[in-house]
Amino acid sequence: MAWWKRGTIYQIYPRSFLDTSGNGIGDLGGVIEKLDYLQYLGIDAIWLSPVFPSPQYDFGYDVSDYYSINPLFGSEEDFDFLLKEAHRRNIRIILDLVLNHTSHQHPWFLESFSNRNNPKADWYIWADPKGKRPPNNWKSVFGGSAWKWNDKRRQFYLHSFTPQQPDLNWRNPEVKKELLSIFEYWLEKGVDGFRLDVVDFFLKDEFLRSNPYCIGRRPYEMQKHIYDKNRPENIQLMQEIRKTIDRFPQRMAVGEVAERNVEIAAAYYGPNNDGLHLNFNFEFLEQPWKPQKFCRAIEKWENLLEDDNWPAYTLSNHDVPRYISRYGNSIPRAKVAAAMLFSLRGTPFIYYGEEIGMTQTRIPKREIKDPVGKRYWPIHPGRDGCRTPMQWNSDLNAGFTSSTPWLKVNPNYKKVNVEKQVQKDHSLFHFYRKLIQCRKKHPPLQNGKLQISSLTNQNILAYWRKTSDESILVLLNFSSQKQTVTLSPSEGELIFTCPKAPAEFKRKKIHLPPEGMAFLLYQN
Ligand code: NOJ
Repeated sequence: MAWWKRGTIYQIYPRSFLDTSGNGIGDLGGVIEKLDYLQYLGIDAIWLSPVFPSPQYDFGYDVSDYYSINPLFGSEEDFDFLLKEAHRRNIRIILDLVLNHTSHQHPWFLESFSNRNNPKADWYIWADPKGKRPPNNWKSVFGGSAWKWNDKRRQFYLHSFTPQQPDLNWRNPEVKKELLSIFEYWLEKGVDGFRLDVVDFFLKDEFLRSNPYCIGRRPYEMQKHIYDKNRPENIQLMQEIRKTIDRFPQRMAVGEVAERNVEIAAAYYGPNNDGLHLNFNFEFLEQPWKPQKFCRAIEKWENLLEDDNWPAYTLSNHDVPRYISRYGNSIPRAKVAAAMLFSLRGTPFIYYGEEIGMTQTRIPKREIKDPVGKRYWPIHPGRDGCRTPMQWNSDLNAGFTSSTPWLKVNPNYKKVNVEKQVQKDHSLFHFYRKLIQCRKKHPPLQNGKLQISSLTNQNILAYWRKTSDESILVLLNFSSQKQTVTLSPSEGELIFTCPKAPAEFKRKKIHLPPEGMAFLLYQN
């Protein structure tokens, strides 16, 4: 079984992990310093949010050079050393490639906008105005028109995100060739995979047709995005990317298909499982605390995917409020959610700090850094609240930096930090560790088929993971009341429960305490 199916992937937002240079911003040195910690936690790979040179308008999701490392985070030697030290500990490194757009300061864009006849003139998506208006009605995800006027070329350019992130023209064969060679460059260096930013946006309609309007909650959702993203040809492009990656053994790509509609996301696996290796299912990021809702999301995804498509699940990332806070800052609920994440069929992705229950931080307006928050506060406070510095200990700035942190540290750091939790047996940290170990130990949890159990208790999410030799029944009590489940045909062996609130057997019945859980193993 490939490591990226078996393993747990840990997302690091490098600015916020650990600052070793003393400038208030996390760096690669910080990641290197904490490799032993990550190894102890038991993860198999690190996904590094972008570490390439970037003017940081969107904190690295605006790249100005794909072939080197941002000096803000360290040198190329630091990166090589990180790769070596991670591999030495059996930890893989996944880079975040942002290839829908570059920074507006990328030399390609500077050349492209200098005039209409330069060699890179067609590397971005330029179009003439319609009268004085933009060429079509496309909207930017971050608000307003997706087109910006450029006085030099006297044309509009497309930016699906901020104006500092002009969209590349993947239809231009030279652009495609260059972008595919970025994959090769890093694969040859030895990186193990990529998280691909907004792959659904790569190819746009070649005639730049306007999107039809529809009913939606916010302006961006008031159009059906059929021409500015998810063009059918985009799937063929994913197949080409897959081929490039598969020339190197044991490498992978996980696609960010930022779609509400998971049917669209499923298409990115390709018609013959020859598209991207993994694609995120983001439905968990929006579920209320109801087992039926999670159950439906899992069932829907399992039904959409072919047997050989491998799911990827996540509860948190750098774009959404931390899941523990979405569920009432409750540690017991966090444990239930984590037990679900690690027992489903698919690769679990966890977000730095999730293992210690770091909560969402309220950032005062004047301290907001995220361009989304700056533009939309208070309607949208931005994404800073989930990107605050990692809470290592009770020292100044939670041990993240010796100077002023780039973003406020959550004031709860004296209570919620790594040092404290590593010392406590019943902490969330040790719960995550045990879950990771349990998944490693029991093959059904890694590669077993998933089957939703027909249990009728509305408070419990229950499913089976089955291989030909063994089956595991997963029981998760979402409620704050004790629940009892009758087990048939037999009790099974309790291989995982919450040590602080263990499940108990009583004559073919199992009692699950409030927010309790049980993984039961059966030999077939
Ligand atoms: C998705 C990334 O996750 C987000 O952080 C970023 O702002 C946009 N893509 C644009 O690159």
